[in-house]
Amino acid sequence: MKKNIYTIFLGIILFIGGQILLTSSSNGRAFSANDGNTGAPGESQTCRSCHGGGQFNATVNITVKDSSGFPVTNYVPGKVYDVDVAISTTNAAQRYGFQLVTLTSNAIPYNAWSQPSANTRIANVGQRSYAEHKGKSETNLFSTKWTAPVAGTGDIVFYAGGAAVNNNGSTSGDNGDVTSLTLIEDISTSSIEYSIENVVSFFPIPAEDYFFLKNNGESSLNGVIRVIDLQGKTISEELVNVLPNGQVEISVRQLKSGIYMAQFASSNQSILNKRIVIR
Ligand code: HEC
Repeated sequence: MKKNIYTIFLGIILFIGGQILLTSSSNGRAFSANDGNTGAPGESQTCRSCHGGGQFNATVNITVKDSSGFPVTNYVPGKVYDVDVAISTTNAAQRYGFQLVTLTSNAIPYNAWSQPSANTRIANVGQRSYAEHKGKSETNLFSTKWTAPVAGTGDIVFYAGGAAVNNNGSTSGDNGDVTSLTLIEDISTSSIEYSIENVVSFFPIPAEDYFFLKNNGESSLNGVIRVIDLQGKTISEELVNVLPNGQVEISVRQLKSGIYMAQFASSNQSILNKRIVIR
């Protein structure tokens, strides 16, 4: 009996602790509640779910700028961009908070934040990395740098949530909003070589344990086949010689499922990057 009372007591303490942890967000939702609230696929709530009232009429805006400060809607693979999230209001709010995440068009996490501004921190929830407010911010502007993924990744979607708050330590009187922005891969500047694309192909996509590189050309090909993750890290590398009409097999059995880049760098300097899906 005594044991039961202790168990119930412990349960209540854990429950209250859990509630405080789950509901707290003045320190950033990923950092203090392990939750994402940007409106991205897979999230269950947005800032507005809890901060839904108030007079502020919050609107969230995402701007991605190139190194000369021009807003862009395309990205060049591997380039570094400045990302601003601004929360505008009809009446100035006392404090502001936000959250930002990037995913591929099929909702695979793509994490590439760096150098957050003083009011911004990076925190993870599962496989996703969020940029978010570090304490309640007096300014409505949050910034971080972001490195675009490798060629062949395709569209990247930025999801942001924001809250304009009255600094009363609760959600009352606050207003939240979410938005998203899709950046299209700029293929005119990517390293895809169209001539080699006519000669070499990767299949099957999606692959399970193996994929193949086929030489559709009339002369042998020498080069390196690499498997690269979305952050640009080389995971495997193999020197190959492929006869005309021949093919080589690359094992991907040990890789986690997801999107990767298969790269063939031919000894004649041409490079083919192809997005592959591993199941
Ligand atoms: C599940 C409910 C919930 C969600 C979703 C939520 N919050 Fe909160 N938030 C709270 C609670 C409860 C508080 C008060 C406790 C605290 O300060 O942590 C709060 C407080 C805040 C405060 C300080 C408010 C004040 O007036 O003092 C900010 C800023 C804030 N949240 C930002 C955000 C942002 C930005 C998002 C979306 C990315 C968000 N919150 C999503 C529940 C939530």
